[in-house]
Amino acid sequence: MNITVIGTGYVGLVTGACFSEMGNKVFCVDIDNGKLEKLKKGLIPLYEPGLEDLVKRNYKKSDLKFTNKLKEGIKNSNICFIAVGTPMDEDGSADLKHVLDVATEIGQVMSHDLIVVNKSTVPVGTADKVKKTIKQELKKRGAEYKVDVVSNPEFLKEGSAVGDFMRPDRVIIGSDNPEVINTLKELYFPFTINHERFIIMDVYSAEMTKYASNAMLATRISFMNEMANICERVGADINRVREGIGSDSRIGYRFLYPGCGYGGSCFPKDVKALIKTAQDHDYDSHILKQVEKVNNEQKLYLVKKIKERFGEDLYGHSFAMWGLSFKPGTDDMREAPSVVIINKLIKLGAKIKAYDPQAMDVAKKYYFKNNPHVEFCDNKYQTVEGASAIILVTEWKEFRSPDFDDIGAVIKNKIIFDGRNQYHKEYLKSKGFEYYPIGNGS
Ligand code: UGA
Repeated sequence: MNITVIGTGYVGLVTGACFSEMGNKVFCVDIDNGKLEKLKKGLIPLYEPGLEDLVKRNYKKSDLKFTNKLKEGIKNSNICFIAVGTPMDEDGSADLKHVLDVATEIGQVMSHDLIVVNKSTVPVGTADKVKKTIKQELKKRGAEYKVDVVSNPEFLKEGSAVGDFMRPDRVIIGSDNPEVINTLKELYFPFTINHERFIIMDVYSAEMTKYASNAMLATRISFMNEMANICERVGADINRVREGIGSDSRIGYRFLYPGCGYGGSCFPKDVKALIKTAQDHDYDSHILKQVEKVNNEQKLYLVKKIKERFGEDLYGHSFAMWGLSFKPGTDDMREAPSVVIINKLIKLGAKIKAYDPQAMDVAKKYYFKNNPHVEFCDNKYQTVEGASAIILVTEWKEFRSPDFDDIGAVIKNKIIFDGRNQYHKEYLKSKGFEYYPIGNGS
């Protein structure tokens, strides 16, 4: 099939590259010429395992094209995906500006019937707005093409996005047009070949499914963080409790890891947006508000422990910060707990020596540019020289089994604050370390 994907951000680029890998001809459209030129040279603006190979290979075969001309893409396609950003508005709702700008442009340039598929995370009712906007533009031109707007939410995880797209748990298609549903099923069939994983529903439910999924996952994390905080107070170990409850098949083991809070471009934004949607429909969302509150507090939980150990005044202390990205496998630092923790520690007078396997450039450029209190180190061992303690925030594999003897020889205090429960308490004790995990986890 011939497809246009609008937006070469994270979702759009993965979508375009994966569809082209299955033999479709894909036009990736973006307004950022600099980015397009880089993509043509195989330079990927974000760190995502496997994506560079896919882009390079399919661009070379001409199955994947990059253009700033939407008209060119649409002229040659019968399906057009919208994958532009929906950043958070000041009031917490999803800002639909980019989505509706794109809808306007589609209406201005389309020259035949078109299936428009929305992949951006958008509140319920957006498909209606997109359709209305396109129709208005068509009317202005006196054109009478048929347009179907489908909701096809994306469930990619950063760091494993290519795998998630290639082997999806489910493909949700929100539409009431059987013909359109069949076309999309055909397009997605290669990705679901061994197991039918299509879930067909109305467009509102599909839009809501995306928010409900992320809200549910965020709720699980805040719930576990709360359990961990209670465990600490009663002397229980959250890791044992996690195993205990995960063994119930109704609960399951996955996504039950407590830590120093969830981050990223999705959970915080989507939980907020759903609270706002509920409010707009006269519903006060009690659970989601608490999920957000628990998470904001959890991001500062390690700071609370640090203050308990060292006191409120941290002048003269330097901390080794292990990990900056919001999770391993990405260089994304949006809403990352590391940013909140570092800023708070600096406020209390501390200095930071930071290291992350992928996010150093992002940190230097966008978060701590020229910040005299943050020193960026070449590796994890450099950060610990003279440090008052290690603070582990992101569970990159290379932090799993460091040489604690080497560290012990150069660190000022043998102390670890572990925001991701990566180490064994007894082992660290045998090496002479004081260990502060989350929820007594070991
Ligand atoms: C999330 C969803 O998992 C995807 O399904 C969805 O498509 C995506 O948002 C989106 O809406 O685009 P992502 O933000 O890449 O994906 O990251 P996750 O792997 O879900 O992790 C989110 C945060 O939760 C991280 O900060 C992570 O450290 C934290 N987390 C995760 C925990 O604290 N505990 C866990 O057990 C799991």
